Amino acid sequence: MLKTDILIIGSGISGLFFAMKTAKKRPDLSIVIMTKETAKNTNTRLAQGGIAVVTDHLKDSFNKHIHDTLRSGGGLCDKEVVEMVIKQAPERLQELIEIGTSFDKDEKGQWDLGLEGGHSQHRILHHKDSSGQEIESKLLKIIKKMPNIELLENHMVIDINAETKKAKTTCTGVFFYEKKHNRIKYMRTRTIVLSTGGCGQLFENTTNPKIATGDGLAMAARAGAEIADMEYIQFHPTALFTGKENPLFLISEAVRGFGAHIVNEEGKRFLFKYDIRGELSTRDMVSNAISKELQLSGKDHVYLDCRHLDARKFYAHFPVIAAHCNELGIKPEKDLIPVVPAAHYQCGGIKVDLNGVTNIKNLYAIGECARTGLHGKNRLASNSLLEALVFAHQASENVDRTIAEFVFSSKILIPKFPKAEQTDDYHSFEILKKELQKLVTSFYTSEERDSDLAFEKIKSLHNDAVSLTETHEITIPFIEFSNMIATSLLIIKQCKAAPNKQMC
Ligand code: SIN
Repeated sequence: MLKTDILIIGSGISGLFFAMKTAKKRPDLSIVIMTKETAKNTNTRLAQGGIAVVTDHLKDSFNKHIHDTLRSGGGLCDKEVVEMVIKQAPERLQELIEIGTSFDKDEKGQWDLGLEGGHSQHRILHHKDSSGQEIESKLLKIIKKMPNIELLENHMVIDINAETKKAKTTCTGVFFYEKKHNRIKYMRTRTIVLSTGGCGQLFENTTNPKIATGDGLAMAARAGAEIADMEYIQFHPTALFTGKENPLFLISEAVRGFGAHIVNEEGKRFLFKYDIRGELSTRDMVSNAISKELQLSGKDHVYLDCRHLDARKFYAHFPVIAAHCNELGIKPEKDLIPVVPAAHYQCGGIKVDLNGVTNIKNLYAIGECARTGLHGKNRLASNSLLEALVFAHQASENVDRTIAEFVFSSKILIPKFPKAEQTDDYHSFEILKKELQKLVTSFYTSEERDSDLAFEKIKSLHNDAVSLTETHEITIPFIEFSNMIATSLLIIKQCKAAPNKQMC
């Protein structure tokens, strides 16, 4: 029977950083990282902007960053968490630098600090416009060399096994699907760390990759974990609009920080009508303003105008964005870039304490799948990679202090699922997924949400999926679709409980 001391599910920045730190500190512990596709296929890799850290103590301060974060979160942040994360940021940044992560500097050798919406100061450290990729590749390189870490790609966790004794639930292992051998197996663990990212794929327009199907959240909820704030899905104001891509390509907020304007069909700026900070307002404000403008105009996108910017500097700062636009025949120095708001980040998730600990014994959640209290109703730009690092650190310290309390369960579990089969039902599930995306998008963006109707429609979609699997048994599309259904229902339920939220 397979076993590991620590199982990490997901290979984004939080999971990898946790793995690296824990493996270094505790070479006596065995660590497995399971990821449902290749390790590189994460949301982290797509992060363009960078990491918000106070480094220039002359112009900036922890207090200013704390104030900006609280303001962006609309009064719903946990102040203790905000202070902890922002004050810890320089130390975590230093750890990334020590493993060779490179962040851009200016001609004087100082950090080239970017500006993004909601920040009162330039404080974003970045690696051109591919910060996530730079961090992810450095972390992967290190963890692949660590002898006590095993990285299992193409292994999809189906469910957490949890045992409840004296009203306390403990997780003891996971059922997972091994793609290569097309079989379901069980792994015993002493600790599980969920770092499974978000659920952007529930929406028609999203910047999140296909893998962002709410898996960790759904399996944690099934195991009895508390889930909070799922009504706060953040829409990024400037995803490139082509009318056919999924995911939509992100045009970093840093481009607006660099001076780009958002304009309507007539080429006019309109954001100041909604907020005096204009293009540099927080994401919720900018996305809402764009949505309102689109409702008024009846169009399906607005534009990002970069034509007044220094083209040489633009291409040097944003090579990935410029290359992608050029491939589509858009020259940012001459053409307007069509953009639209798109689901980008899940501000809520699995509820955790300051150490990433959930209400289930020995189950941790870090990164986007966790609801730490940092973001409130609207995450401040470039606070997510930072949160991932800080909570990975906190969880790693906590595991080191507490893992001795946890022993392997003596129960040997035989997978209760029917044998997995790779079938040709991919196409059918793609159709169901599109229907679900349409339903969730229409529910979430509607001025008058009808939760009961949305519930009914989504349950009926689930029944369609179940009937598909009656002939085909368990498959990856089915597991993902079930997780998407469970996550949608949680969003609807939590929206119903908080009906006065602002909509995009
Ligand atoms: C961006 O570059 O605009 C995305 C960064 C983030 O989501 O904070």
